[in-house]
Amino acid sequence: MSQAFDVLVIGGGPGGYIAAIRAAQLGFKVACAESNAYDDPKGEPRLGGTCLNVGCIPSKALLASSEEFEKIGHHAADHGIKVGSVSIDSKKMVQRKDDIVTKMTGGIQFLFRKNKITLLKGHASFEGKGADGYQVKIDGKDKETVTAKNVIIATGSKARHLPGLPVDNVLICDNEGALKFESVPKKLGVIGAGVIGLELGSVWRRLGSEVTVLEALPSFLAACDVSIAKEAQKLFTKQGLNINMGVKIGDVKADKKGVVVNYTDSAGKAAKLECDRLIVSVGRVPNTDKLGLDKIGLKVDERGFIPIDDHTCATTAAGVYAVGDVVRGPMLAHKAEDEGVLAAEVIAGQKPHIDYNCIPWVIYTDPEIAWVGKTEQALKEAGIAYKAGQFPFMANGRALGMGRSDGFVKVLADAKTDEILGVHIIGPNASDLIAEAAVAMEFKAAAEDIARICHPHPSLSEVVREAALATDQRALNM
Ligand code: NAI
Repeated sequence: MSQAFDVLVIGGGPGGYIAAIRAAQLGFKVACAESNAYDDPKGEPRLGGTCLNVGCIPSKALLASSEEFEKIGHHAADHGIKVGSVSIDSKKMVQRKDDIVTKMTGGIQFLFRKNKITLLKGHASFEGKGADGYQVKIDGKDKETVTAKNVIIATGSKARHLPGLPVDNVLICDNEGALKFESVPKKLGVIGAGVIGLELGSVWRRLGSEVTVLEALPSFLAACDVSIAKEAQKLFTKQGLNINMGVKIGDVKADKKGVVVNYTDSAGKAAKLECDRLIVSVGRVPNTDKLGLDKIGLKVDERGFIPIDDHTCATTAAGVYAVGDVVRGPMLAHKAEDEGVLAAEVIAGQKPHIDYNCIPWVIYTDPEIAWVGKTEQALKEAGIAYKAGQFPFMANGRALGMGRSDGFVKVLADAKTDEILGVHIIGPNASDLIAEAAVAMEFKAAAEDIARICHPHPSLSEVVREAALATDQRALNM
């Protein structure tokens, strides 16, 4: 007899493992299939997906290490702290990152045991549908076919590679190889000035690499509010990132001596970048092949995404849902998690809701960039009358004390109703500060609400309050 489940989740990343836990909390008999072993020493599938194994968590560990290094080497003296020469043991830094990853993925295994979720180790693909539900083949060390009344597809995404540019994850790396450098490259090239390129480019720059970024688009961080993008480009350039916009990548050669990237610059001139290592971070593509979707009548769209109902994450196959990077919307771990919870609750007959306009975005550069809601350019384009308030960290005592006074907060509010339409932050701890704005927007708060709420002093959060006050030209400390 094959194992039978109420809910089978395919993929153990943030979308999948959270969906499995929520479904178990709701009383379902749940299994989660995972096949990717990443660098597991025993070759066992690892839970946590891209985020925990080769994305958010390891990159943030390296960001923290490189920030400490930069602080000690360059900023300790500002505090009157004298240090001798500072060096980095990159092997140890990478080992620390690996230990954090191992701890976190092990933590999910514990959560599975706690919630009585069956972990099916192997690649899952649909075989068809019978009277008892969907038949799904699990192809691992043991091969079996299980049945499930409901299936949540949460198989995530993989790095997009460029034609003619083979990634070996030694010299030419995507996000996976770029987290494993065991020495600091003297010259590092990055193709794509997006989230990954800027985060990882910053890590290695802080540790001493000379970093050159090549970006196809003419404008920097096009998804950000224009004034934030402008400030970011100015600050990152000042820090030493060599950013080239509007380039066209030509042929790339790699040999023992390093990598040579031929490209055309924004003026149309032929140019060449020689580097020891190259990171290719030009977006990601959904993992929707080899799932046997055709066996249950599902088709992906032209970009490989699974079409779903926007409100329920339901596919056109009854009882099959899809969440996270395999469906429309931003490829963000927290968006995937919320959709995982939503899908489990829809299966349980509940009526959950996600307001996609209130999903915060974060780029973990230094300073961090975070935003929620509409950008100023989007409001202009939509013809919405708005007012803007901006306040710099430079005028905040806590930021000055921390030696982290670069950047500002910008609040955009409806000109008539004062409802907050967007909040944009470039500055210290932006990733934490944006949570207040997300809560405010979920509750349809007005800028006046944030302005009236007592914020702790001295704290960085006062800058958010002052920016809200500034929408009405009544910032108190400027
Ligand atoms: P991205 O979409 O953020 O940036 C890719 C960049 O590469 C774009 O600026 C694009 O114009 C450029 N590009 C594309 N083709 C190019 C070419 N041929 N030559 C030069 N430039 C080219 O993608 P990225 O950085 O790879 O990240 C992938 C996904 O992972 C993103 O969707 C992001 O949301 C997610 N992610 C999120 C993080 C966070 O929330 N902090 C951290 C890391 C990744």
